[in-house]
Amino acid sequence: MNASILSQNFDNEPSADLKNVLTAYAKINKNYTAAIREVKTKLEILDDDFQLLHKHNPIHHMESRVKSPESIYEKLIRRGYDLDINKISKQLFDIAGIRVICHYVDDIYIVAELLKKQDDLTVIKEVDYIKNPKSNGYRSLHLVVGVPVFFVNRVERIPVEVQIRTMAMDFWASLEHQLRYKAEGEIPKFIAEELKECSENIANSDLQMQKIHSFLDDLDKFSPK
Ligand code: GTP
Ligand code: MG
Repeated sequence: MNASILSQNFDNEPSADLKNVLTAYAKINKNYTAAIREVKTKLEILDDDFQLLHKHNPIHHMESRVKSPESIYEKLIRRGYDLDINKISKQLFDIAGIRVICHYVDDIYIVAELLKKQDDLTVIKEVDYIKNPKSNGYRSLHLVVGVPVFFVNRVERIPVEVQIRTMAMDFWASLEHQLRYKAEGEIPKFIAEELKECSENIANSDLQMQKIHSFLDDLDKFSPK
């Protein structure tokens, strides 16, 4: 075997470009992970305090992620955005994402209002896909909030996308995502119609569960102790 090829494979430093990109992503990951921790803590504190005051936890559980480099790249290309690594955070607001899974529909708005009220946060965007579901049946409340993160020698306001939904909405969205992935993007019309019907059935069940919960809650409030 040619010795010069071997030495090239083992001795080559990564190119300056690759090194820059890897370093930049490591920094993005660290900063956005910090922002997720800030917002998650706020949500945990709200959930605990609400339980203390009202004997009910609005939040069932939370999930979070920092967008992968592949997804960042794919979205920049899809949207025709600038590929300059320094401009990424000015163009994408969903690099940090938290999914808040609530018990009941009312809990979604309780959590959203309590979070929006905090005066260190800025509300960058709000889309209510519950009052106005997507045409395929997708339901969730989406907020993008800017949270200040205090680093050693600077403060950065970092956007975090918060998707708030019930367990039932999450069940539908997870399966729809899986099925769409399986169908490689193009879901046949008759399946899309069935999925939409499922979403409506689920939304009706959510409302029914909400009514039962509110009824029992009122009963409890007015019953003599
Ligand atoms: P993305 O490029 O997908 O981030 O969309 P966007 O920036 O235009 O925002 P949008 O509010 O449409 O969607 C943001 C996120 O909500 C997505 O990344 C998904 O996590 C979720 N979402 C939105 N629409 C759907 C949907 O039809 N089905 C499922 N399963 N999830 C959805
Ligand atoms: Mg997204």
